[in-house]
Amino acid sequence: MAPSRVFVVGFVLAFLSVTASAGIVETSFHVKNLTANRLCEDHVITAVNGSLPGPTLRVKEGDTVIVHVFNKSPYNLTIHWHGVFQRQSQWADGPEFITQCPIRPGGNYTYKFHMIEQVGTLWWHAHSKWLRATVYGALVIRPRDGQKYPFVKPYREDTIMLGEWWNANPIDVEDAAQAVGAAPANADAYTINGWPGDLFNSCRPSKIYKLDVVPGKTYLLRIINAALNNQFFFKIANHNLTVVGEDAAYTNPFPTDVIVIGPGQTTDVLLTANQSPGLYYMAAHPYASAAGVPFNANITTAILAYPNATQTTPILPVLPAFNDTPTAFAFSSNITALVTSPFWSPVPQKVDENMFVTIGLGLSVCGTNQTCQGIFGQRMSASMNNHSFAPPTSMSILEALFRNVSGVYTTDFPDQPPLVFDYVNVNNSFNQTLLMTPKLTSVKKLKFNATVQLVFQNTALVGIENHPMHLHGFNFYVLAQGFGNYDPVNDSKKFNLVNPQERNTLGVPVGGWAVIRFRANNPGVWFIHCHLDVHLPWGLATAFVVENGGTPESTLPPPPADFPKC
Ligand code: C2O
Repeated sequence: MAPSRVFVVGFVLAFLSVTASAGIVETSFHVKNLTANRLCEDHVITAVNGSLPGPTLRVKEGDTVIVHVFNKSPYNLTIHWHGVFQRQSQWADGPEFITQCPIRPGGNYTYKFHMIEQVGTLWWHAHSKWLRATVYGALVIRPRDGQKYPFVKPYREDTIMLGEWWNANPIDVEDAAQAVGAAPANADAYTINGWPGDLFNSCRPSKIYKLDVVPGKTYLLRIINAALNNQFFFKIANHNLTVVGEDAAYTNPFPTDVIVIGPGQTTDVLLTANQSPGLYYMAAHPYASAAGVPFNANITTAILAYPNATQTTPILPVLPAFNDTPTAFAFSSNITALVTSPFWSPVPQKVDENMFVTIGLGLSVCGTNQTCQGIFGQRMSASMNNHSFAPPTSMSILEALFRNVSGVYTTDFPDQPPLVFDYVNVNNSFNQTLLMTPKLTSVKKLKFNATVQLVFQNTALVGIENHPMHLHGFNFYVLAQGFGNYDPVNDSKKFNLVNPQERNTLGVPVGGWAVIRFRANNPGVWFIHCHLDVHLPWGLATAFVVENGGTPESTLPPPPADFPKC
């Protein structure tokens, strides 16, 4: 009896997979030292399969992705598939000590997950210390066979990855800052597809990224911000762009000549090569929202090249001013979701969990016998609702949840800040009674399928700043955004409950607020944090622990056999 049942199930599965034509994309990542030359200097970095950026994963919606990761680097390593829902593959999400212990040097781990109900652009990156500075790559998701893009079929597609480069080993930069509780050194250059471009005076470029276009043709550009610590303005000289997707969710077509993109975000745009034959720079420089905080004001470039161009110097676009918050806000707040997308689901109208969460910087106590170079001789810190997140060290939160181990984390992350004050008042920036924040490993528990509404409120502690907040495991709807202190009575009237953009990462306006909503429809542990890697180690994070839902599909499966041990 039993064998024939197995046969029937097998037959049905085979039939389903043929009709859905889902495939398997299987590859290996060999992570090891690479000597890379940028800005005329050689530096040893950690890279995947010997390239910077690492390999692009190309999949179709519905595919199963299997990546065998071999850690031949000297560092602990995990890989995160940024934006992938990880339904039923919770152990593959990747953030160190949240879902897994790191792959130790010499070790390996196979990540396996299904790419479902997401089309567009995502990416992958290391999620252990600052390794992601050089361990990152694109994840390109095309529609499954028989489905189409909801826009004109592009002639070609290309990926534009923005990044940062230090004339140093980035892990050393982080360690030096952590040792004294200070802010880390800024990057020496920004990069497009791994190359700084040719506007750096310090050195003649060894290489610049170039995209050759055919006049009259339309291209789909997948723009990804893989930088650690900078949001960018991005433009292509003389060309207009049409946004058609963000974070692997389709949007209504949004025409613009400038893109604003925070770390972690992706933006898919259509570009038509409709200008006179020539050379045009694609260029990016920071959107620096925090007043008075030093940053590197360089421009990174790549070239859009028409055939038979006669000029030798490309045309440079005029980028917005570094602090042009109105341009950043107009871009980030006017994009809407394409509700005719096959993957759209309407916004849940009933909210089960209401959270109001302050996000911003602060200070943590300098240890005895330590020298600390943060403000007031303390350690620089950051928090959500004044809880500054410290990851566990003995076991991941997901494993502790699964094995019912106590003492690894607490479930008392609060729904409200401990103190109500004038959050955005810059007169409070250095108010020592407000600045200190405790180090905790606290999470928020959610019932399976609970609808969560979360107001992010930026604080002026140390300084107001736009924080790109990223949620693992889910997309969220962006209901409204604004400046100042959130006003529940009047600002809730501005909610877009019809076609709000769906994202996994949102830049919360500087000195302002944003309201998001999501349905906790996947049990497991889902990190939520600022995607600026200067702020993540400072503690601008927490996690959602979503309980099982009572059916096999809504139950956390056991970890895979090769799951890394601590
Ligand atoms: Cu792209 Cu938790 O990260």
